[in-house]
This record gives sequence, structure tokens and C-alpha cells, in this order.
Amino acid sequence: MSNAHGAVELEVDQITHETSDAISLSFVVPEHRTAQFAYRPGQFLTLEIPCTDGGSVARCYSFSSSPVRDPRPTVTVKRIEDGLASHWLHDNVVRGMRLNALPPSGMFGPENWDSDFVLMAAGSGITPMLSIIKTALFRHDNRMTLVYANQNRESVIFAEQLSELQARFPDRLDVHHWFASDSGLPTAAGLATMDVMVPVDYEAFLCGPTQYMNVAEEWLALTGTTARRTHREVFSSFDSNPFRIDDAALPHESDGKSVTAQVEIDGIETEFAWNADTKLLDRLLELGLDAPYVCREGTCGGCAYTLTEGTVTMLANETLDQHEMAHGVRLACQSVPVSATIRAVFDR
Ligand SMILES: Cc1cc2nc3c(=O)[nH]c(=O)nc-3n(C[C@H](O)[C@H](O)[C@H](O)COP(=O)(O)OP(=O)(O)OC[C@H]3O[C@@H](n4cnc5c(N)ncnc54)[C@H](O)[C@@H]3O)c2cc1C
Ligand code: FES
Repeated sequence: MSNAHGAVELEVDQITHETSDAISLSFVVPEHRTAQFAYRPGQFLTLEIPCTDGGSVARCYSFSSSPVRDPRPTVTVKRIEDGLASHWLHDNVVRGMRLNALPPSGMFGPENWDSDFVLMAAGSGITPMLSIIKTALFRHDNRMTLVYANQNRESVIFAEQLSELQARFPDRLDVHHWFASDSGLPTAAGLATMDVMVPVDYEAFLCGPTQYMNVAEEWLALTGTTARRTHREVFSSFDSNPFRIDDAALPHESDGKSVTAQVEIDGIETEFAWNADTKLLDRLLELGLDAPYVCREGTCGGCAYTLTEGTVTMLANETLDQHEMAHGVRLACQSVPVSATIRAVFDR
């Protein structure tokens, strides 16, 4: 059952205890799968985690490693109170264990490395930021400001790495910590009291609880600056399980109006009829086409494609920003057709 769209067994190579409740897992990717598992900073890996009832759940973990700096792809998992998968990983993973994983996915992360970055992280939301920071410092020339909120000093993941990077690149990386134990939960007014220099022209990357990201945006507005683009990443668990093919492609019965779609996946174009009340991803899976996806809930960006002709409506979108929408990016798991003909390319 575990061969959904390119799932591969990855071997756990190293386990690093970052804090009392965060571990990093680095993986060996089979040699013939390295191209498929190439990743961009900001992307995530989806792991299949076994359950005691014999089933499994799928969970996403952002890469904390940098593709240009670290030899092995690495994710960092924070133990969540009563959390099924995070507890299982903390309590059971050993070196040499194999875990099913889907190829890297996700839209969070820079496209343009010429911009300066303002990175706002809370808790485990630091993982994609570390990947972005290391990649920028060792491959590009831009400057970055990181504001990192945690419960207390002990809960800061990558404290040492961050201070080493800051010491090595003092003109390019500026790190500010916020501790709820000292100052309470972050507020826009509270952040405004910190001595943070926000560049005039920058892209913002926000990752943490929605409340924190809202506060971060409010504070950035208070500074009188406007980000060129604001990227958000929400860390949540999904109900769907892309590793279970049975769950994935239920036949869809419909008597709705039908349109004509031409969809290119991996360079192969297919034309088919698409009912107006069926989501694009459901239709593709129904046809047996190998379309990428993870959450099927409009939150992860794993099913993103470019709409090159026609119009669709998205029933939900918690991940694409205005810039991506303006460039035709859409989510297949949430798209229903509007125009009579539609062309789409999976090129993400
Ligand atoms: C794109 C993406 C990237 C992610 N990257 C990371 C990462 O780098 N590191 C990481 O540790 N996690 C990351 N996550 C979150 C991760 O996928 C799981 O949601 C998390 O490990 C909790 O799963 P669980 O099975 O242990 O908890 P569940 O059994 O799913 O949840 C248990 C309880 O905890 C709550 N809960 C779930 N997630 C969180 C959370 N993140 N914080 C607080 N409460 C929560 C739930 O509401 C529930 O009440 C990411 C999620 C997404 C979508
Ligand atoms: S599969 Fe996650 S947004 Fe569509």
C-alpha cells in the first residue's frame, strides 16, 4: 500500500538531540532516487508514521538542512503534547531504520535570492528558516533578519548554530530572540520595542502558529515597511494519508457540466473531460495519472500547478500568496473548472 506517487524508503542516518523535545533526523537517499529527492530550502518531506492499530499517518517535516551545505537531507521534529507521530518518532526512531517518504514538496521558500529577508519563526517554525539562512549565507549575498519566538532559552532549537552563523556573518545575519517566559506571548507592540532593523526592501517569511504570523505581519506594518512578498507556512497535521492509495483515488460520481482539460504531468499531456463539481486532483487520480499531492486540504502546496489557459475556482487556499496566484499557480486538490477549456502544467 505504500507506493503512492513516488514514495521511497529512506534510511535514518543520524539522530541529533537538539533540545529536550526536538530531534533532527538525517536520511540516506537511495542513489537512484537522488534527483527525485533534491529539495529547495523551505520545502518539506512527508513521512509515513506507523500506528499501533497497524495503520499509519502521514506527517510533513520541513528540511532544516541546506541543500548546498549539508551532505544529508535532515528534518527536525518537535515533540507535541499528545502528538501521535512526533511521539512515535521521538520514542522509536533508531539509526538504520527505514521510513517511507514522499519526495520533497511545498511552495514556501525564496525564488529570488537578491532580496533581503525578514524571517519570523516560532518554535519548530525555525526549521525552514535555518535551511533558508544557511543557503543564503553560503550561496548568495543578501542580508537577513531573524526574529525567533520561543517559550524560554532552553526551548530554542539550533541556538548554537544560529549564534555561530551570526558571529561568522555579522553583516548579513541579525538574530533576535523573544522569550515568552520573560515577555509573555509576542504582540506587535511588544516586537516594536525590540531593536530590530527592518530593511526597506525585503521579502518576509513567516512560520509558526497563525496567531504568531498575524502578530508578525502587524508588527511589520507598524515599522512602516512593506514586504515585496510575504510567505506563510502553517504547521498542521492532515487527516488524509497520501501513502494509502485506497484513500486517495475514490471514483467520483457526478452529473455536473463537463469541460475539456489538457493537463501536462512530467512532460506528458493528457486531454480529458472534467466535471464542474469535481476537483482537478480527484479527476487526475481517477484517471490513474500520477499527479503530486500530500494533504488534499489546500494547505501544503504539494499539488501546485500552473494554469496556462482558462479559469478555475479554488475551494480553499491556505498556502499560495498573491504573487503566485497572479502567476497562474493553483492547487489541484482545490480546483474546480469554470471555463469550457482549461490547460494546466504540473511544473512545480
Ligand atoms: C508543511 C509542514 C511542515 C512542517 N514542518 C514541521 C517541522 O519542521 N517540525 C515539526 O516538528 N513539525 C512540523 N510540521 C508539523 C507536523 O507535520 C505535525 O503536525 C506535528 O509533528 C504534530 O503531529 P503529531 O502526529 O505528533 O500530532 P497530532 O496527533 O497530529 O496532534 C496532537 C495535538 O497537537 C496539536 N498540534 C498538532 N500540531 C501541532 C503543532 N505543530 N504545534 C502545536 N500543537 C500541535 C493538535 O491540534 C492536537 O491537539 C509541519 C507541518 C506542515 C504542514
Ligand atoms: S495537496 Fe496539499 S495543498 Fe493540495
